[in-house]
Amino acid sequence: MLRKRGSLIFCGTFLFVTWNAILVLLLWGRPQPGQPGEAGQEQGAPLEIPSDDVVGDVLRMADTFEAELERQKEILLQIQNHQSLWEPSNGNKVKAVAPEQPIIPILVIACNRVTVRRCVDKLLQHRPSAEHFPIIVSQDCGHAETAEVIRSYGDKVTHLKQPDLSDIAVRPEHKKFKGYYKISRHYRWALNQVFRTLSHSSVVIVEDDLEVAPDFFEYFRALLPLLKSDPSLWCVSAWNDNGRDGYVDPGKADLLYRTDFFPGLGWMLVREVWDELEPKWPASFWDDWMRQPEQRRDRACIRPEVSRTLTFGRQGVSLGQFFDKYLRYIKLNTEFVPFTKLDLSYLKEETYKQNFEKEVYSAPVVTYEAVKQGQLTGPGPFRLQYSSKDSFKMMAKNLGVMDDLKSGVPRAGYRGVVSFISRGRRIYLAPPPGWSKYDPTWS
Ligand code: UD1
Ligand code: MN
Repeated sequence: MLRKRGSLIFCGTFLFVTWNAILVLLLWGRPQPGQPGEAGQEQGAPLEIPSDDVVGDVLRMADTFEAELERQKEILLQIQNHQSLWEPSNGNKVKAVAPEQPIIPILVIACNRVTVRRCVDKLLQHRPSAEHFPIIVSQDCGHAETAEVIRSYGDKVTHLKQPDLSDIAVRPEHKKFKGYYKISRHYRWALNQVFRTLSHSSVVIVEDDLEVAPDFFEYFRALLPLLKSDPSLWCVSAWNDNGRDGYVDPGKADLLYRTDFFPGLGWMLVREVWDELEPKWPASFWDDWMRQPEQRRDRACIRPEVSRTLTFGRQGVSLGQFFDKYLRYIKLNTEFVPFTKLDLSYLKEETYKQNFEKEVYSAPVVTYEAVKQGQLTGPGPFRLQYSSKDSFKMMAKNLGVMDDLKSGVPRAGYRGVVSFISRGRRIYLAPPPGWSKYDPTWS
């Protein structure tokens, strides 16, 4: 039924176009009265008298055709728009209308590093659509050379400049942290631009020292509906804090997790959450502030097994605190995972919690020594239990996963559990069964 109607529409359209083409040819060949530009001008398709100038004639003919085709395109678009009205109303046979693709702007936070080029180049290289992923580079710091790099992209990116470059007064002990104050001020301004001035409803934030993976856009596009519909989520991040080579399963590039730790480093935020955070946005250390219970309010983020961002910024405000130890070894995903075509319902809170708990707590308990010395037998996964802050830190550190806790939450952790690969086997570094909440004094 649908197919028949489709071919009918096609035939009709074809005849219509052909008829108009013939009409144009006939009209053009007709001798015209009056002076050039006098007659037919108001008709919408200006037809002029052919002259001796053959090239000029051909050009004019091309113009005529172009105008005519433009008009026909418009009519065809109207036909297309009305097509949905002709669709049969016999209930279950209705054609599935492709859901409209959302617009997700990519906000690049820049300051004074010309290497922002590496970040923007990769974004442009992997971006599937300029229309659905507009790139906005927001620049702080007023650095001319960096501004020049951003400007060189022309209209491929929107260049915003944070206008308030004034010094920020901080208490003496915080002098060395001034950079963090500036970052915070910049974030507030830039996010207000995106959500308030430009009226977007979601955004993916990328810092100028991040490089993105081929399926970066696919990942965020696929996760937006979940982020929008699930109030127990407040971000989607491209980053795995323990995503070093050898610590993740490269064969599971499609695997995603919930995490109670806010990872940042390439992350998506929706307007509702910004509206909530903006009025109390902190003067400094915005990321650790996000990790406090008052802000997080038990919400989780989605994060991948294999990172979709990589940081190349050793020289940063935090002076490479973690860079040489962890960050530089993060493995960037290389294989494109078609996330929008996968069933992601396993990430819904109740389903996820139940399956995760079962997976972790049915895994056999092993000792730290056995893991450390590679004495595990069987394929895994295995559970390694910690019962205090100190035992967590000792085991994490010695096994090579990040041992710092923010507001009691371990990096990449979910309900206290940190999942990673050690010598080819899956390990869950986990609190005893019956975990109920984090202890914010663990830090
Ligand atoms: C670290 C975090 C970063 C976080 C920041 C604030 C890592 C790897 N990085 O910054 O995600 O945002 O702490 O707590 O964990 N910038 C400005 N204005 C400035 C200085 C910097 O806008 O005056 C911008 C930079 O362009 C960059 C971002 O702020 O996009 C972070 O700066 P960076 O120098 O990379 O600091 P990190 O130590 O990585
Ligand atoms: Mn950085």
